[in-house]
Amino acid sequence: MEEALRVAVLIGSTREGRAGAGVGRWFTAAAGRRVGLHLDSLDLADADLPAAYPAAPTPALTRFRERIARAEAYVVVTPEYNRSFPGPLKQAIDFAYDEWHAKPVGFVSYGYRARGRHAVAHLRDVFLELHTVTMRDVVALDLADRSFDDDHVTVLLDELTWWGLALRDARRARPYCA
Ligand SMILES: Cc1cc2nc3c(=O)[nH]c(=O)nc-3n(C[C@H](O)[C@H](O)[C@H](O)COP(=O)(O)O)c2cc1C
Repeated sequence: MEEALRVAVLIGSTREGRAGAGVGRWFTAAAGRRVGLHLDSLDLADADLPAAYPAAPTPALTRFRERIARAEAYVVVTPEYNRSFPGPLKQAIDFAYDEWHAKPVGFVSYGYRARGRHAVAHLRDVFLELHTVTMRDVVALDLADRSFDDDHVTVLLDELTWWGLALRDARRARPYCA
């Protein structure tokens, strides 16, 4: 049987009183019902990452990088703040580099009318620089109606699993060129 795909689920909001913890729990529970995935819930609120880039990596920063390196695919759970994604999420993404390479990234976004669409657009651009492949379909939630839909989770995880396994094989066949 195929080795389970290691998926890190990054909870991108660290705001006190955040909705992100609940959205992350909902997504992780839905993804956890799927066979063939090994989930690592990486909540930035608990990661103890430095607020500014340190001259030498802190132990928490090293642990964060190791978890990014171990994962074979990622799902970023992000809110929308002023038409983008939160600053602490950008700082966390910037703390790793090679660790992201040649792996797929999916998004669970939330907000009001736009459901986090602008945050995802900006994240796609950032993840392009990190040599990742971003998934076409997004789980996009409107906090006003709170109808969280498992069907979109299935579509996202189908894409993420295909790319995750394909890129696992590709990385094993030859080192990534970057
Ligand atoms: C600073 C700030 C800016 C926001 N800007 C937007 C926005 O541009 N679009 C949107 O749909 N919601 C916006 N919101 C509403 C958030 O989507 C909503 O508060 C959500 O709960 C934030 O996620 P969090 O609770 O996990 O931090 C904003 C919220 C905050 C705190």
